[in-house]
Amino acid sequence: MWGKRDDMIVHDEEPFNAEPPPAALAGQPLTPIEAFYSRNHGPSPDLDPATWRLRIGGLVDRELVLSLAELQQRFTPRTEVVTLECAGNRRAELLAVRPIPGQVPWGPATISTATWTGVSLADVLAAAGPGAGAAHVAFAAPDVSPSVDQPYGSSIPLPKACSGEVLLAWGMNGVPLPRIHGGPVRVVVPGYIGARSVKWVQRISIQAGPSESYFQAEDYRLLPPDAEPGPGRGISLGPLTMTSGILCPDGERVPAGPTDVIGYAFAAEGRTIVRVDVSLDRGRTWTQAAVDDPPSTWAWQLWHTTLDLPSGPAEITARAWDDTGATQPEFPASLWNPAGYDNNSWARIRVDVG
Ligand code: MTE
Repeated sequence: MWGKRDDMIVHDEEPFNAEPPPAALAGQPLTPIEAFYSRNHGPSPDLDPATWRLRIGGLVDRELVLSLAELQQRFTPRTEVVTLECAGNRRAELLAVRPIPGQVPWGPATISTATWTGVSLADVLAAAGPGAGAAHVAFAAPDVSPSVDQPYGSSIPLPKACSGEVLLAWGMNGVPLPRIHGGPVRVVVPGYIGARSVKWVQRISIQAGPSESYFQAEDYRLLPPDAEPGPGRGISLGPLTMTSGILCPDGERVPAGPTDVIGYAFAAEGRTIVRVDVSLDRGRTWTQAAVDDPPSTWAWQLWHTTLDLPSGPAEITARAWDDTGATQPEFPASLWNPAGYDNNSWARIRVDVG
């Protein structure tokens, strides 16, 4: 129904939550829309681009109401390559450590990269004129999550919102933004967890504090292992952590011999992955994969190598290093948290060879 590949791994039909089979992401810096993961908390609204309006208010000198045509004509359009990653990417590995009830068991493909066309949120905010006390920019959408009976909302700090790279986007990979990805207009926050890139955005509020939406105040927070969730508890997730994933081989059985191993690595805000190590002996010895340049400052990097796989069960491990010398933690167990966010441990797959 949503123009996705037939072989998407659909975790929920309604709201639609799906990721592609990992191999569908391999080897292509830009993800085709039909393979791009989809994360929704409620039914997707069907908004008419002709009547859609964006309202900007709160601590501003001038309130604005913009139609799509006004947004497109009043501000300078720009196109950026940006990777979106859900904070729940690779949750399945955390689930294997300890149960995480009620959360989608995402594999390693809840990450995708597209070109996004729109205008800088910074330009729109400048036209409204942030007033005294402004510190956060909150986004509100009309889709209602049945589990919490609240419309979706989120916020980012004002300096990030004014940084230029944050977009109000109406285009994706050169076509009008599809409804399932937030059309007619969504926010794209490069370098931040996907939850902050609010789809179907209708209202932007400049305010002193973060959004009071459940999805900012209570969800998308990193809690200590035995803590209970609650408003304001835990670390509110914003900037992404460095991670990596293995995309190929994708399947339980592979023939013995030279085998292409392909994956992605994604550095945190503004940094670059400079090395990816791959191991067949759980990290006792490593070989270095070839790492592609990122298609933009805000995008993942693909990597590949060829390993000679002997017959029998094999475990392939990968870890990335960024240009500050930081690398990934070894085990998901040390990262386990009650909502299952931010699993950026070494990438691991197990295959039967032969
Ligand atoms: N925006 C709205 N309005 N409703 C949502 O459910 N999900 C968020 C974000 N924006 C969401 C939203 C989450 S958690 C993620 S990871 C991204 O959208 C996913 O974007 P995509 O579905 O286009 O891949």
